[in-house]
Amino acid sequence: MRAATTEIVRRLDGLAPRIALVLGSGLGELVEKIENPIDMPFADLPGFPVSGVSGHSGKLVAGSLSGVPVIMLSGRKHYYEEGHAAAMRFPLEVLKEIGITQVILTNSAGSLREDMPPGSLMMINDHINYSGRDPLIGEETDARFVPMVNAYDPPTRLALELAAAKVDVSLHHGVYIWFSGPSFETPAEIRMARLLGADAVGMSTVPEVILCRFLDLEVAAFSIITNYGAGLADGDPSHGETKEMAPVGGERLGRVIEQFLQDLA
Ligand code: HPA
Repeated sequence: MRAATTEIVRRLDGLAPRIALVLGSGLGELVEKIENPIDMPFADLPGFPVSGVSGHSGKLVAGSLSGVPVIMLSGRKHYYEEGHAAAMRFPLEVLKEIGITQVILTNSAGSLREDMPPGSLMMINDHINYSGRDPLIGEETDARFVPMVNAYDPPTRLALELAAAKVDVSLHHGVYIWFSGPSFETPAEIRMARLLGADAVGMSTVPEVILCRFLDLEVAAFSIITNYGAGLADGDPSHGETKEMAPVGGERLGRVIEQFLQDLA
């Protein structure tokens, strides 16, 4: 067992979360909903990759939400930080070791659809790995040939959809396309992404989904729409806009997650 796993289990002091949430840029506020929070800064967990992206605080927080034990990972490492697609492998392996079976990923993304304005919430039903990077390159076992049909767990998606309806949050469904970043896309790339059938564009999540399937963790994922893709609206997309708009969709997402957990309890 990894030292980080031992340390987390010690700090959990008997709490046994099965569900983990990975919070994207600007979504760190969700941790504030956790009751009796146990804060674990990544710096205290040997081997955890510390992210340097502003808007990401870099800690695990465990506790209970809607009466269900959960753990949240605030401050994910991105591919664009070091060009390392497997940056999230270690944290996800540790989550698996502590007993997590289900992971809900969140991100901030640009919209490729007129009917999905900033502030909208989109549940990802499939993705396009446009970066061409794969976190399993170098893995030597046959487990590397991970199937990606229904990668986004259909029963979990259904439960989340029902939860959204119950709390009256309108939920879009769509395909997320991964560009490596950190530069934003050009208008031509955005037009191409639309032609390819994508609905939202972002710089994360796809490698984590691949890793979750590799580790046999059930996964679902949400995009908070913070802006229209480049060229679809006036002005440039910016990280400032992401940080400003994410909490708007984040509030809606929080309500959906709380209802989803309440339905499990
Ligand atoms: N492009 C890529 N990533 C993003 C965007 C975008 O427009 N908005 C938030 N994250």
